[in-house]
Amino acid sequence: DAGDHESFMRKEMLEQPAAAERVLRGRLDERFGTAHLGGLEMDPRETRAVRRVKVLGCGSAYYVGQMGASLIEELARIPADAEAASEFRYRDPVIEPDTLYVAVSQSGETVDTLLAVQEIQRKGGRVIGLVNVVGSAIARECGAGIYLHAGPEVAVASTKALTNMFLGFSLLALQLGRVRDLSVADGRRLIAGLQALPAAVEEVLAQEDALAAVAQRLAEAESLFFVGRVRGFPVAREGAQKFKEISYRHAEAYQTSELKHGPLALISEEVPTVAVVPDDELTERNVAALHEIAARKGPLVVVTHPGVDLGGLDVVRIDVPHLERELDPILLTIPLQLLAYHAAKHLGHDIDKPRNLAKSVTVE
Ligand code: G6P
Repeated sequence: DAGDHESFMRKEMLEQPAAAERVLRGRLDERFGTAHLGGLEMDPRETRAVRRVKVLGCGSAYYVGQMGASLIEELARIPADAEAASEFRYRDPVIEPDTLYVAVSQSGETVDTLLAVQEIQRKGGRVIGLVNVVGSAIARECGAGIYLHAGPEVAVASTKALTNMFLGFSLLALQLGRVRDLSVADGRRLIAGLQALPAAVEEVLAQEDALAAVAQRLAEAESLFFVGRVRGFPVAREGAQKFKEISYRHAEAYQTSELKHGPLALISEEVPTVAVVPDDELTERNVAALHEIAARKGPLVVVTHPGVDLGGLDVVRIDVPHLERELDPILLTIPLQLLAYHAAKHLGHDIDKPRNLAKSVTVE
C-alpha cells in the first residue's frame, strides 16, 4: 500500500533514512572500530584468509556491487571487482578457493544471480548473499550472508534496497579491513560516517523541489550522458540506468576520462550531461573535463560537494553532504534517483511499472 504517496518509488525513496538505520542497527562496534556480521559465519582466521572478493548481481544490484567492490578494495586492500551475474556463468569462470564470492540481490529470486551462485558452489567456491528478502532462493542457497532489512520494495526501480546494499558492503568492508591493516581510528571514522548517513540522506531528499525542476528540463532531451570517474563511475552507471528505466530517454554512462576518446563527438546543446564530481583527488581533472563539455555548448548538471570550485562554469549545481570519502557514492546516488523520478513523472509515465521490465526476473 503506497498510502498517501503518489507512487511506491517515491514512498521507498523517502523511506531510505529509516531503512539505512535498520541495516546498521546492532552491527557497529565503536570500541573496536569494526562491524559484527553474525550471518557471515566466518571467524577472524577465515576472514583473514580471503585473498580476493568477487561480487555478482544484475541491473542496479550489479552497479552497487561495483561501488561495494571498490569499497572493499579501498578499506581491506583485497583485490575486488564486480561482474554481471547474467554473464558470469557463461564464460566457464575459474573459481578460486580463497576468493569470497558475494551475490547481491534485492528479491533474492533473480535467476541469473541464483545460477551464478550454483555455478560457484558446484566448483567448490564460497559464496555469501547480500539479500533483502528473508528466506528467498538466493539467501537459502548461500546459507550465509547479510540481510539488508530495507523492508518490502515494490517499485521496479530499486532505491532503498540499493542504499542498504551499499551499507551492507560498507559493513563487510569494515569487517574485512579490521582483520587486516585498517586501523581502529579509521574504523571509528567510518562508523561515525555511517551513523551520520541517515540524516545526510534526509538532507538530500529535502532538495526534492529543486531537483524536480532540473529533472523537468532534462526530460526534454532525447539523449543524455551520465559521467563520473573511479568512485563516481558506478554512481553515473546507476544514475543512467534509473533515468532510462523510467523516463525512456536514452541515457548513457561513461567514465569522464573517456569522453575525449569518443563520446565528446556527440556533445551539443541538445545533449545534456549529468556529471558526478566529488571532492576528492580527481576533482581538478573532472572540472577540466566539464570545461570540454561546456566548450561544445553541452548543458551541465553537476552533482558535487559544498566547496568544490567549478571554475566559474555555467552549470546547474547540486550539492550533497560530504561525510567520509568512502561513503560518497551512496550520497551522490540519491539526487540521481530524484532526477529520474521527476523526469518520468513530468513525462506522465507509470513510474512503478515501467514498460517491458519486471521487478524480479525469474527467467534466464
Ligand atoms: C530487474 C529489475 C532491476 C533490478 C534487477 C536485479 O532487472 O528491473 O531493477 O536491479 O532485476 O534484481 P534483484 O532483485 O536481484 O536485486
